[in-house]
Amino acid sequence: MSATSTLTTRPAAPTDAAALSELAAETFPLACPPHTTAEAIAAFVAEHFTVQRFEEYLADPSRSLVVTEDVDGRLVGYTMLIAGEPRDADAAAAVAARPAIELSKFYTRRAAHGTGVAGPLMAATLDAAAQTGAATVWLGVNEQNARAIRFYEKHGFAKVGRKHFVVGGRIEDDWVLARPLP
Ligand SMILES: CC(C)(COP(=O)(O)OP(=O)(O)OC[C@H]1O[C@@H](n2cnc3c(N)ncnc32)[C@H](O)[C@@H]1OP(=O)(O)O)[C@@H](O)C(=O)NCCC(=O)NCCS
Repeated sequence: MSATSTLTTRPAAPTDAAALSELAAETFPLACPPHTTAEAIAAFVAEHFTVQRFEEYLADPSRSLVVTEDVDGRLVGYTMLIAGEPRDADAAAAVAARPAIELSKFYTRRAAHGTGVAGPLMAATLDAAAQTGAATVWLGVNEQNARAIRFYEKHGFAKVGRKHFVVGGRIEDDWVLARPLP
């Protein structure tokens, strides 16, 4: 994995859809609890992470995607924000401030974990969130994902509630974390 000085973090472009689809499929399993089956992961990826879905995400004015790429133009991480009222009722109740924006996706390749890649990606994503005029950014994270929870708390997020997340028909427990925006 490249040193962070050779990486570029930028807003995603429509031409990134195929690369984002590949990156999302590779990194989604990294956030799943160990009991999540390969079938459940494959079904989730097929529903949410196709090239066409990313083309739709990139064209959606309520969504902002940020990517980090290496010197060869290979994506190593991405985030996706979704502006608007939280669609999840538990999250809507847990997140106090409005307008709110969801940090729906935050993924880096496994080889990038612990290398400092995620910090600049978080900074750029918080900037993008603030530019929408949102007062708070929130997210859901699996309660077993200790590494991500620590990462988010390091970047100013705090636990504000709980919600559920369904993968493969199984209900998973998430923390809801939120952070004020400047
Ligand atoms: C979440 C993610 C982007 C964070 O990037 P990262 O490079 O791992 O982040 P950092 O190394 O800066 O921070 C991770 C922190 O967790 C700590 N940590 C690592 N493993 C841990 C564990 N098992 N339990 C608790 N903390 C842990 C690290 O020591 C570090 O804290 P520190 O800086 O105080 O030492 C990255 O791990 C990732 O893509 N994970 C897979 C996808 C995912 O889970 N996304 C979140 C979905 S909600």
